[in-house]
Formats: sequence, structure tokens, C-alpha cells
Amino acid sequence: MSQFDLSRLLPADYFSHALRHDVRHGLTASPKWLPPKWFYDARGSELFEEITRLPEYYPTRAEREILTARAGEIAALTKARTLVELGSGSSEKTRLLLDALRSLGTLGEYVPVDVSESALEGAGKALTTEYPDLAVRAVVSDFTQGLGFSADSPAPRLVAFLGGTLGNLLPAERAEFLSSLRAGLAPGDALLLGTDLVKDPAVLVAAYDDAAGVTAEFNKNVLQVLNRELRADFPADGFEHHALWDAEQEWIEMRLRAVAATTVRIQELGLTVEFAAGEELRTEVSAKFRRERVAEELAAAGLRLTQWWTDREGRFGLSLAEPV
Ligand SMILES: C[S@@+](CC[C@H](N)C(=O)[O-])C[C@H]1O[C@@H](n2cnc3c(N)ncnc32)[C@H](O)[C@@H]1O
Repeated sequence: MSQFDLSRLLPADYFSHALRHDVRHGLTASPKWLPPKWFYDARGSELFEEITRLPEYYPTRAEREILTARAGEIAALTKARTLVELGSGSSEKTRLLLDALRSLGTLGEYVPVDVSESALEGAGKALTTEYPDLAVRAVVSDFTQGLGFSADSPAPRLVAFLGGTLGNLLPAERAEFLSSLRAGLAPGDALLLGTDLVKDPAVLVAAYDDAAGVTAEFNKNVLQVLNRELRADFPADGFEHHALWDAEQEWIEMRLRAVAATTVRIQELGLTVEFAAGEELRTEVSAKFRRERVAEELAAAGLRLTQWWTDREGRFGLSLAEPV
């Protein structure tokens, strides 16, 4: 077997069916919405990487700070032989875990799982050069449908879910996701979960509405995906980026606001969608957590929080959990 391989967990037509379903469902709902996974074509994945380097976007730096301080401890506690990472993107911060598990001598296999094939290819190429004796088994999957790691990966397994991506799922979706994740874990396996924390709304909103406009471009990229994949005709400058803090739900919302009354034709669906001037389409929620809520949601899924770390400023939380 070669050092890098990429497999597809879901049927070949899964993504085109799921996109059609989500667009028909979300754009005929009131208010209109789309799930965030459709941001991540090759351009969307590149834009997300740019976001992680923005001065306003503290979560990546905060999570890296925790991983830098704790990777050795995480390796010693888990002794993982397989590292699975859900929504792995560029696997940038993952190198801290790979290094720690490699120095302990346990790790043989890394399984990055993502919807973005281009991100998996890019990360795989870089990692196989940097870690010549590590097997990288990339999996293209939607982690809400199939987690991508198989029961025959060498145990114990550590499943990392970093970047605060859990917060992009709605509460009911999170509960379902965590339960199916729990069902895939055996005694001795562990979950490493990164969650962004509740803080000053001004800091939160700035992280999703940067001065350079990269997040705005990332948000609008979903319309380019729909134009290309479904032959839609969203006008390039017809929508504005908007980020807001919902204090009751404790989540950030990203929206696209129609600059003027707009009629959009989505040819592949035979669907016409009307936007009133100022009407908003929700493209992402990003829930922010407190330690108690993380522990409760894990417990409800049959997982016990065993370690909780934050960065020095208490902006981001990293949890280690084990199946009960
Ligand atoms: C917020 S980014 C985080 C990337 C990286 N883990 C980090 O911490 O920087 C979310 C990542 O999850 C992937 N993703 C989003 N929804 C997904 C889904 N439903 N299934 C699999 N991957 C998904 C995206 O392609 C992207 O790489």
C-alpha cells in the first residue's frame, strides 16, 4: 500500500444529491438558509486558510497555543496508534499532535476526513514529505453522514475534531453527530474536541467580519458554488456579507443580504428564488461554548470529559473525552 491514499466513503452521487436537496430545502424555507459545508470547494478551502491567518481570527492561534502546550500530555494520555481527524482541512495544527505521537512512538496511521478533496490532497502531499514513515489514509466524507474511520484502524484511536467546527452544527445536529461518533469509539479510544468559547461580542463579530474582507469573500463563495454546480445566476455583487451575535443562542451567524430585490434562477433545480431588498440568507452558525455545556453535550452522547484546557486568555477550549 502506498504512503498516501484517498478514498470516498459515500456513493459517487452523494454530494450532488445532497447539494440539490439542501439548496431546494434551504432556499424555499423562511427565513432562507444553507448548511456551511457548501463553502468548501477548492477556493473556499483556500479562503478559509487565509482566514486562519487574519489578525481578527483568534481561534486558530488560541487553539494552536493550547496544542503547543498540551500535545505531549495528550499523546501520553491517549497513546494513540491511529489519529483520525474530522474536518481536517489543511491539517496545519495537526502537526503538533503528529509530532507528539511520533515521539512517543505509538502513531502509525493518520486518517484525515473532509468534504474538501482538494484540501485532503494538499495536506496529504505535504504530510507525506514531512513524515516519510506515516501512512496517510485520507477519506472524502460528510461527517454528518459517515465518520470515515473504520473499526480495523489500529487501536487505540484518537479522534480529533478541531477548529470549533462542532459549533457549525445546530444543537440537534450536534447531539446526533456526537452520538454516532460515540458509537464508533471503543474502550481506550478518545475524542479531542476544540470549541470556541463565549466572550465579548465585539471580539466575536470582528473574527467573522475582518477589515480585509476575506471572510466576506469566503461567505459569498457559496453563491459561486451554486452558480457553477447548479447553473444558478446569483449576481456577483448582489449580496453583502453580514455577521451578527445571537446572545440568546450564544452563536455567531453569517448571512448574505440581498442589496436589492433579486430574482435568482437555479437551472439544475428548475427553481426560481425571489429575494426582497435587504432579505438575508443564513449561511453559517458558529456556536460558542462554556465548559459546562461542552461537558453536558458530551455526557448526553455517552462521553466523559476527562481533561479541559484553554489558552492563557481563556478564548478557546480543548477537551479530551472518553467513551463511558
Ligand atoms: C472551520 S474549518 C476547520 C479546519 C481545520 N480543522 C482547522 O482547525 O483549521 C472546517 C473544516 O471542516 C470541513 N467540513 C465542513 N463541513 C464538513 C462536513 N459536513 N463533513 C466533512 N468535512 C466538513 C471543511 O471542508 C473544513 O476543512
